[in-house]
Amino acid sequence: MKFAQRVEQIQPSATVAVGNKASMLKQKGIDIIDLSVGEPDFKTPENIVKVAKRSLDSGDHGYTSSKGILELRDSISKYFSSKCGLEYGSEEIIVTPGAKQALFEAIMTIIQEGDEAIVLTPAWVSYEPIISMAGGEITRVDLEPYGFQLAPAMSKLKETISSRTKLIVINSPSNPTGAVYSQKALEGVRDLAVDNDVMVISDEIYKEITYAPEYTSIGSIEGMGDRTVTVNGFSKAYAMTGWRLGYMGAPQSLIKQAAKIHSHTVTCATNMVQHAGVEALENTEDSVREMVSSFRQRRDFILRLLSNSGMDILSPDGAFYVMIPVGGNGVKWCEKSIEEAHVAMVPGEAFGAPGYARISYANSMENIEEAIERLCANELI
Ligand SMILES: Cc1ncc(COP(=O)(O)O)c(C=O)c1O
Repeated sequence: MKFAQRVEQIQPSATVAVGNKASMLKQKGIDIIDLSVGEPDFKTPENIVKVAKRSLDSGDHGYTSSKGILELRDSISKYFSSKCGLEYGSEEIIVTPGAKQALFEAIMTIIQEGDEAIVLTPAWVSYEPIISMAGGEITRVDLEPYGFQLAPAMSKLKETISSRTKLIVINSPSNPTGAVYSQKALEGVRDLAVDNDVMVISDEIYKEITYAPEYTSIGSIEGMGDRTVTVNGFSKAYAMTGWRLGYMGAPQSLIKQAAKIHSHTVTCATNMVQHAGVEALENTEDSVREMVSSFRQRRDFILRLLSNSGMDILSPDGAFYVMIPVGGNGVKWCEKSIEEAHVAMVPGEAFGAPGYARISYANSMENIEEAIERLCANELI
């Protein structure tokens, strides 16, 4: 049977593939340390769980308004304004089952057959498949390995933009690099976006997990309000990956179109999960601060261990990942690592960065230490 070209051409998620291999080996009784997963190792804070239970007990089990309950959209609007300097009213927000769905709806709304979208590589694994499902062509702009910052890539970005470019995808803090982009670099993107009439999707899912003193949302920069879609979600900051809750803020004209995709695909995000989302945004700051402080300690710890093994990596300012250079072939290196050292990581090739591996340090200090010892013992680093 021949299936649609749009799905035949895309690859399954490489991060999921590594996770599956790790689970398979674990089932065989092998002691795998899994540093491949892109999720916090914390439980969802108790107050959020309580609100979800209360909501379920209340008997309100129906569909909600398609764009999300007003209470949550109001909380998101307040969050955007107080934490990101973004002014999206509740009518300019769609609540989705996960940030991934928000990205899907936004890309489907912006990109059509023949359009070009620019992705900064290394990039998160799902941007390219979504763009290609929308019929778009992907142009990669490679970031310099030392720090994977945006500023040094500005002239490349400028050369890459063409009359067919419709979209630039920004992800700060970045998965997989942990890089946080400076306001100055983002102003450079603004200049290019305005001059070339290009839209920007800003994926800010790791925004709360930043260790740098400053953070800029590109949509808050003058001139960007009406050409930015800001995507965020609850998975990472509130340890809510399995709950599936995310959202986008965008100009009313775009929201009006995206809302059609939303209503015809998911109808609405899960009712009780939306109520839990209000609690997360309104009453969970202390737990978030504790989790972020713990991620920061682990980042410092793993960088120290890597440095002691002769690998000096520029400290990433956000998320819970570090990219390490592994020589020629990241896929082979990661295979060797999981089979011989029993440490699972994701090859850089999955993110468009051959010769690298992504380590997730969302794991205990003991496991991180043991994993680096195993890599050294097996002469992988
Ligand atoms: C950069 C980035 N964007 C979006 C997502 C999707 O998050 P969600 O769980 O909210 O769909 C992820 C999840 O790994 C991610 O790393």
